[in-house]
Amino acid sequence: MFPQTRMRRLRYGKLKEMVRENDLTVNDLIYPFFVDETAAEKTEVSSMPGVFRWPATMAVDAAREAFDLGIPAVLIFGIPKTKDAEGSSAYGDDDVVQKAVREIKAQFGNDLIVITDLCMCEYTDHGHCGIVDFENHDVVNDLTLPVLGKIAVSHAKAGADIVAPSGMMDGMIEAIRFALDENGFENTPIMSYSSKYASVFYGPFRDAADSGFCFGDRSEYQMDPANGDEAIRETELDVMEGADMLMVKPGMPYLDIVYRIKQEFQMPLAVYQVSGEYAMIKAAAEKGWLDEKKAFYEACLSMKRAGADMIITYYAKELAEILKSGK
Ligand code: PBG
Ligand code: ZN
Repeated sequence: MFPQTRMRRLRYGKLKEMVRENDLTVNDLIYPFFVDETAAEKTEVSSMPGVFRWPATMAVDAAREAFDLGIPAVLIFGIPKTKDAEGSSAYGDDDVVQKAVREIKAQFGNDLIVITDLCMCEYTDHGHCGIVDFENHDVVNDLTLPVLGKIAVSHAKAGADIVAPSGMMDGMIEAIRFALDENGFENTPIMSYSSKYASVFYGPFRDAADSGFCFGDRSEYQMDPANGDEAIRETELDVMEGADMLMVKPGMPYLDIVYRIKQEFQMPLAVYQVSGEYAMIKAAAEKGWLDEKKAFYEACLSMKRAGADMIITYYAKELAEILKSGK
């Protein structure tokens, strides 16, 4: 008899579902959103249809949309009303993120996990992720670390459940861990953006977060897209410095990295389906070239298959709806 092994035997109806290896569930999802101190009303990001900047007064409403769908966690980005070279509106008790976190935690308590993006780039007028030496056009690593520590403490004080440093400074996890511990936040976990690539796929985010830069780009601190082994070293350092959870970013173009990091470290791992990945699917769908729901579902399922435990996606609400309704 030929062929003797017939893979198609298991590809019918219920049986196919029984032998399925991976699945998406609502507990995998993290919903990212932008709280904007300069916005008077909900404003759609032009390069990300369906994604909004929420006015500071509506932070709770943004979180509620995720909460009502059973999404367990949100990731908050802030857009401040003033920016300066030192990013000094990133760590005040009444700055945009701190206020939003306080209000959201007051509303939902332990039923919603609040993660804060911890970086300087939305708060600096030059747009870089740290303190800048303008003469040499460089981001000064070691001057940035204490600022990151200060931001972390202010987020934790406001009630953040997890801080997520995204600036790719060397030593940032240790600096943040020390700062948190010194201030009584030894139980606040750190989700490190541990393998963050200098990616063109962040383009639409920079419209959303108002964070372009006045010189250069981020390729002197974010990782070279050509490198894979380097992600292992980067991650190893973050683990040694005390990271509790890891991240690979972007998602779909970097699934080899997701796979390797999960295999190597066996730690809780998030994947960030970034703004450009969202925009690509949106744009193709708007042209009628892709079935949007099937496209983002398959993209996110691939991340699970590669080894992700959590997925940060602008499609979180739409995914949760699909998972709830079963289609
Ligand atoms: C800030 C930050 C960025 C993203 C998350 N945190 C932008 C960047 O590094 O330029 C990108 C998110 C996205 O594209 O969806 N450090
Ligand atoms: Zn940054």
